[in-house]
Amino acid sequence: MLSNLPLFPEQAATSAQQVDALFFFLVGVSAFFATLIAVLLVYFALRYRRRSSSDRPKGIEGALGLEIAWSLIPFGLSMIMFVWGARVYVQLRQPPDNATPVYVVGKQWMWKLQHLEGQREINELHVPVGRPIKLIMTSEDVIHSFYIPAFRIKQDVLPGRYTTTWFEATKAGTYHLFCAEYCGTQHAGMIGWVTVMEPADYEIWLSGGLKKSLASAGEDLFQQLGCVTCHRSDSGGRGPALDGVFGKTVSLQNGATAVADEGYLRESILDPQAKTVAGYQPIMPTFKGLVSEEQLLQLIAYIKTLGAPAGGDGATRGAAVPAAAREP
Ligand code: CUA
Repeated sequence: MLSNLPLFPEQAATSAQQVDALFFFLVGVSAFFATLIAVLLVYFALRYRRRSSSDRPKGIEGALGLEIAWSLIPFGLSMIMFVWGARVYVQLRQPPDNATPVYVVGKQWMWKLQHLEGQREINELHVPVGRPIKLIMTSEDVIHSFYIPAFRIKQDVLPGRYTTTWFEATKAGTYHLFCAEYCGTQHAGMIGWVTVMEPADYEIWLSGGLKKSLASAGEDLFQQLGCVTCHRSDSGGRGPALDGVFGKTVSLQNGATAVADEGYLRESILDPQAKTVAGYQPIMPTFKGLVSEEQLLQLIAYIKTLGAPAGGDGATRGAAVPAAAREP
């Protein structure tokens, strides 16, 4: 098969098979019509060449059947391309609900990755086979692009906001990871490896030198930065209680609403006055410059684990993977 040629990166994720199938279809259709046109061009040039200076061809009034055919066939083919392409695109854009988040921060010139369990890596990503992984990514400085050819995924990583992509690896092995957006002198060196492991090996890797989980690192920050003095869960604080807030729609002072996703939480930490929650004073100071992008992700991971308010299910507090934590 074509994908075995060294021209092509390995297919190591579910997305790779989908993208390649579509790509080969496009190449196949293009090759078929390019060949057909080239052959007909030569054939017609010979067959209908002018044989003498008195040669006058008959006038042609049109051929309805032919015209319908050369309209409908390309229309049908382009609709197949459109629908197929849109389906693959939507699938690549929508991580499954059960996807495990991994947090990515790009900076000149390295990739920093954090797992929920607390493992942190630089220019390396370890993941298990057969589990969907959702990458939540941001940049500390300029625009980068997270690119794993073997998975056929590429997503820009932007300062000031979170972008996401996802994959499910199908084959153990190591695969190249690139930055695919020119980001300065050492752009070409902003590379790394994704190591896909059998689930059992992955568990061993995870348990090695176990650090504090992302959420509990976030909880420590929540205490150290004094967030806890205002955002008290007994709802007597000067700021809104954060229990169960993740993924909810919150009412704002200006009458609008916002969904409390990762981007909203990040903005509320760095620019608290941007979207003040209804019923509260805009008194929260900014934490811009006080928390790094990685710490922001830790804080968000912690807020995600906060369960429903008192009376609700408090069991999720401190859990590594909140069941309710998913993007709308
Ligand atoms: Cu980062 Cu190129």
